[in-house]
Amino acid sequence: MTELGPVAWPPAPIRTERLVLREPEARDRAAVIELLASPEVGTYIGGPRPRDELERAMPAVPSGRPGLFVVALDGAMIGQITLTRESGHLRQAAGKAELGYLFLPQAWGYGYAAEACAAALDWFAGALPGEPVVLATRTANLRSMRLAAKLGFVEAERFEAYGAEQWFGMWSSAMPSD
Ligand SMILES: CC(C)(COP(=O)(O)OP(=O)(O)OC[C@H]1O[C@@H](n2cnc3c(N)ncnc32)[C@H](O)[C@@H]1OP(=O)(O)O)[C@@H](O)C(=O)NCCC(=O)NCCS
Repeated sequence: MTELGPVAWPPAPIRTERLVLREPEARDRAAVIELLASPEVGTYIGGPRPRDELERAMPAVPSGRPGLFVVALDGAMIGQITLTRESGHLRQAAGKAELGYLFLPQAWGYGYAAEACAAALDWFAGALPGEPVVLATRTANLRSMRLAAKLGFVEAERFEAYGAEQWFGMWSSAMPSD
C-alpha cells in the first residue's frame, strides 16, 4: 500500500526559495537512472541498481505515484522525496506516512534536501493536519541523521535490521521544529 489516503494527487507544484517539487517528467529520465544507479546514493539503502537494467526498464516518462515528489533546480531533477505509507518493510512504519529522500551526490551539501523536505512536510501538514510522519535511516548514514534532526524528527527507537543499526524518528506538525 502506498496511497496517502484522502489526499488529492498530484498537488500543484510546490515552490521553495530555490527549488520546485513536482511530478516526474520525460526530461528527468536520465537523472532518475543516475540516482538509482549511483553507488554513493545506494551506500546505506541496499546498494545501487544495475544501470543497464534501469535503462531497459525505465519508461520514457519516469512513473510517478502518490507521495513521490521530484525535486528540481532550474528545471533539472536533483533528487526525489517520498511521503508514502509502506506496509512491508518495517514493523515500526506499518500504516504510517514515511518520509524518504534521495538526492544526486553533486547536489549534496547545499541544503537542498532540507529545503525540499521541509516544504514537503509543510504540504503534508496542510493536507493531513496533525498526522505524524515517520522516518527510518541507518545510524551510520550521518548526512541522513543530520537531515532528520534538522527537520525536527525526534528519536523514537533504535533497532537492528538489515544487518545494521537503524534509527526510527517521528515528526508531527504539532511539534516545534527549528
Ligand atoms: C541524505 C541526503 C539527502 C542528505 O543530503 P545533504 O545535502 O547532506 O542534506 P541537506 O540538504 O540537509 O544539506 C546539508 C548540508 O548543506 C550545507 N549547506 C550549504 N548551503 C546551505 C544552505 N543554504 N542551507 C542549508 N544548508 C546548507 C550544510 O552546511 C550541510 O553541509 P555539511 O553536511 O557538509 O555540513 C543525501 O546525502 C542523500 O541523498 N543520500 C543518499 C540517499 C540516502 O541515504 N537517503 C536516506 C535514506 S533513509
